[in-house]
Amino acid sequence: MRKFLLTLTLALVPGLLVALPANSVSASVDVDPHDKQSLQRGAMLFANYCMACHEASLMRYNRIGQDLGLDEDLVEKYLIFKPGTQVHDVMTNVMSQSDAEQWFGAPAPDLTLYARRHGPDRVYRFLTGFYRDDDQPFGVNNTVVSGVSMPHVLEVMQGLPEPRYEERDGRMVVVGVEEATNGKVSPAEFRGAMRDLTNFMDYMAEPVKAERERLGVRVLIFLFIFLIVAYLLKREYWKDVH
Ligand code: HEC
Repeated sequence: MRKFLLTLTLALVPGLLVALPANSVSASVDVDPHDKQSLQRGAMLFANYCMACHEASLMRYNRIGQDLGLDEDLVEKYLIFKPGTQVHDVMTNVMSQSDAEQWFGAPAPDLTLYARRHGPDRVYRFLTGFYRDDDQPFGVNNTVVSGVSMPHVLEVMQGLPEPRYEERDGRMVVVGVEEATNGKVSPAEFRGAMRDLTNFMDYMAEPVKAERERLGVRVLIFLFIFLIVAYLLKREYWKDVH
């Protein structure tokens, strides 16, 4: 049911998706903290696909609800899957770090501040950078984190891309991935969904960003008006001196 809802949401927004960059190790992404619909879709993706292993232990569900315009019922229905969790709780999961290390060979890091530390481009490249590599334990590798211990959790959605090679200094290196055609959604829709997820992770890393930008504009307008007033006042004071 959740996957169905997700696919439905993705299907409603194809118009936004065309201009996004294809995957390569240098792809970049525009995030927009004011695009609430994108953030809502990103939050759903995060809760459905990432929180099985990752936590966002510095973020509370009800804060997301307030910022993204979702009331508590919607937050409970679409974002909370861990039994016993309330809307005012932080976003923890049930998997312990030691279990994760044992199962995947590396702990799944807390993702609350990841985008702030590494920037949204890296998040987007990582999420669109999984490719088939039969030498790896999970059969996948990643253009950003070589030898990655995270499985390609969105394989059903995207399909499994083949790597794209280029020759650099006499050896073949992976520079990106080909478009996968065996997923549930089209490559453009997948890129759109990864932009939403990146947008959400960027918001989560700095929830006040949208408010700060709004405030910044107001402060600049105030300063501009104040400048005019100050200038007129100065002219008035000095007019008899000259
Ligand atoms: C099945 C468990 C699992 C799921 C589900 C999962 N991850 Fe991971 N993730 C991991 C593990 C394990 C690592 C550590 C990888 C490593 O160090 O090689 C990791 C690492 C990462 C990293 C850090 C990469 C780096 O810079 O080293 C990011 C970002 C990330 N995951 C994002 C996500 C997102 C977004 C989702 C949801 C779409 C997700 N993960 C779902 C297990 C998971």
